[in-house]
Amino acid sequence: MPDSTAIRLIEPVDAAPIAAHRVRDLEAFRPWEPAQPDGFFTPEGQEKRIEGLLAGYRAGTVWPGVVLADDEVIGQVTVGGILRQPHLRRGSVGYWIAGVAQNQGHAGSALGLALRVMTDELGLHRAEASTHLENLPSQRVLRRNGFSPYGVAHSSIFLDGSWRDGLLWERILGD
Ligand SMILES: CC(C)(COP(=O)(O)OP(=O)(O)OC[C@H]1O[C@@H](n2cnc3c(N)ncnc32)[C@H](O)[C@@H]1OP(=O)(O)O)[C@@H](O)C(=O)NCCC(=O)NCCS
Repeated sequence: MPDSTAIRLIEPVDAAPIAAHRVRDLEAFRPWEPAQPDGFFTPEGQEKRIEGLLAGYRAGTVWPGVVLADDEVIGQVTVGGILRQPHLRRGSVGYWIAGVAQNQGHAGSALGLALRVMTDELGLHRAEASTHLENLPSQRVLRRNGFSPYGVAHSSIFLDGSWRDGLLWERILGD
């Protein structure tokens, strides 16, 4: 784990660096991230999105984090779809790391820290994730954090012009 990786709850002030990264990475991320409407990756668009994420946090359904390297925002890690009923304690994790900071172990470390939040802060029992079948870097990040693939959700996400299959991943927390 690189010493410098940290995560914290997202803040409105993170809008500008997030917008700058996502505009720079638009082409590189096209196969892996859903298309967004015009204005989405502007500081104003991201501020609105962050407001929505923080509303989800207050409602207890989302834990929206940013990934930091040496105190700079380099990506996001988000736990969504949080269920905290006694019989369904789970959440689904997603992440991205800016191209300028990739392949230095940050996503792997950030996911490990998010799993700790899911266990210690949210009291969850099960973590889930979904990747494009060809997103090998993301699959490495999940395997390194103890996730296993358990199925395929056919034609489940519209990415880069067509409906794609999602490879589904699970990790039982506390294992
Ligand atoms: C997937 C992503 C988050 C990985 O971030 P990262 O900080 O570079 O990840 P890490 O450095 O922790 O780990 C990357 C792993 O992929 C491996 N890798 C990199 N390129 C690869 C390739 N072309 N084929 C196979 N493995 C590859 C690295 O060797 C490393 O594996 P290791 O831990 O076994 O050495 C980043 O590439 C990203 O944001 N991509 C675009 C958005 C995205 O795909 N989000 C996830 C959607 S499910």
